[in-house]
Amino acid sequence: MSSQMPYKVLCVCLGNICRSPTAEVVLRQHCEAKKLNVWVDSAGTSNDHFGQAPDLRSQQHAKKRGYDLSQLRARQLCPHDFLEFDLILAMDHSNIFDIQMLAKKSQTQYGTLRAQIALMSAHDADYFEQAVPDPYYGGALGFEQVLDQCESSSAAWVCFFQHNIQHG
Ligand code: 4NP
Repeated sequence: MSSQMPYKVLCVCLGNICRSPTAEVVLRQHCEAKKLNVWVDSAGTSNDHFGQAPDLRSQQHAKKRGYDLSQLRARQLCPHDFLEFDLILAMDHSNIFDIQMLAKKSQTQYGTLRAQIALMSAHDADYFEQAVPDPYYGGALGFEQVLDQCESSSAAWVCFFQHNIQHG
């Protein structure tokens, strides 16, 4: 990575209305706090919520911790994302399976891919390789859990980026 080009990270869940928008904003804020040249976006493996703002429950719980999700709009992960991004972060193991399926299609279409694929919790000692559980059909605790894990895993990724990528 050059000193000007940001390192690009895409957070991915199923619907892109609960976990990955939360991860996007939390990871971005953690990277900004350390002045890392990291660009963060999010997407869903499904297209069911295309164009929608994040779930109001996600927005409300995030707002209590100082994160504004209101401007985000859902979109689906697409083959070109594997060329655009350096790192694609899956919230759970089902997401990672779906991402890897699409990566195969993308490789057939484009050849060599840029993106590496990992779990959000890949470097997080407190939630090591655990899923960020889907909060959609549950209660308030599930949304707090998403925030707890996104904060913990974002801190771990910031540490990893500080040691493994150059930043301008
Ligand atoms: P997300 O949560 O993958 O964290 O955005 C979900 C959102 C919607 C649905 C499932 C999970 N749904 O079934 O509509």
